[in-house]
Amino acid sequence: MKKIIIAIDGHSSCGKSTMAKDLAADIGYKYIDSGAMYRAVTLYSIENGMFQGDDLDTEMLEKAMKDIRIDFRPNPETGRSDTYLNGRNVEKEIRGMEVAGKVSPIATVRFVRRAMVEQQQKFGEEKGIVMDGRDIGTVVFPQAELKVFVTARPEVRTRRRLDELKAKGEPASFDEVLANIEKRDLIDSTRAESPLLQADDAIVLDNSDMTIEQQNKWLVGKYQARV
Ligand code: DC
Repeated sequence: MKKIIIAIDGHSSCGKSTMAKDLAADIGYKYIDSGAMYRAVTLYSIENGMFQGDDLDTEMLEKAMKDIRIDFRPNPETGRSDTYLNGRNVEKEIRGMEVAGKVSPIATVRFVRRAMVEQQQKFGEEKGIVMDGRDIGTVVFPQAELKVFVTARPEVRTRRRLDELKAKGEPASFDEVLANIEKRDLIDSTRAESPLLQADDAIVLDNSDMTIEQQNKWLVGKYQARV
């Protein structure tokens, strides 16, 4: 069967990565979490003293970009792939609140985006890939054969994110998480560099009232229709 590129874009915490991962596993495609790459750059910046409060030293980061290597390696225990930063498994660290609170400004920096997009396009050279993010169907793979734009109501997304944090032993309050989600939405959609936009040829999915099984079924249906 011919291999295609599947781009899944949308707001944060609306289940994009769950559906993208499940689809990739189901159809034997590679899965790339592009947000994890921006998160890894954020972690690097925090660890190397590039943040003073919320202010990022972009000059320092630009010099360091050549030293930042990000890759994904399979984790036999979970059956998923983990994010590695310069050879270190950072999967857990990049999902915490500290990185979540600083990743949006990092994702607005032009030279960071350029480097990430270049690497993402390399991952897709052989097709057979599912990638999720904000600009996958618009900037990274405008030629993708299947584009999905996912959304859900903010309170539903907050609940999902809270459950995720709780499962990781990082409880947070509803208001704190909702504020983080709303702040990120605003930065992601209004930034000058590759804002979160729905591609003209994307299919929209509001999964607020869907179970994971229902959304997976919906997505497999769209994939089958395309191939
Ligand atoms: O999907 P996520 O929450 O892990 O993404 C983390 C941040 O990275 C989020 O603020 C948006 C940004 N991002 C982006 O700008 N472009 C992408 N392709 C993926 C994520």
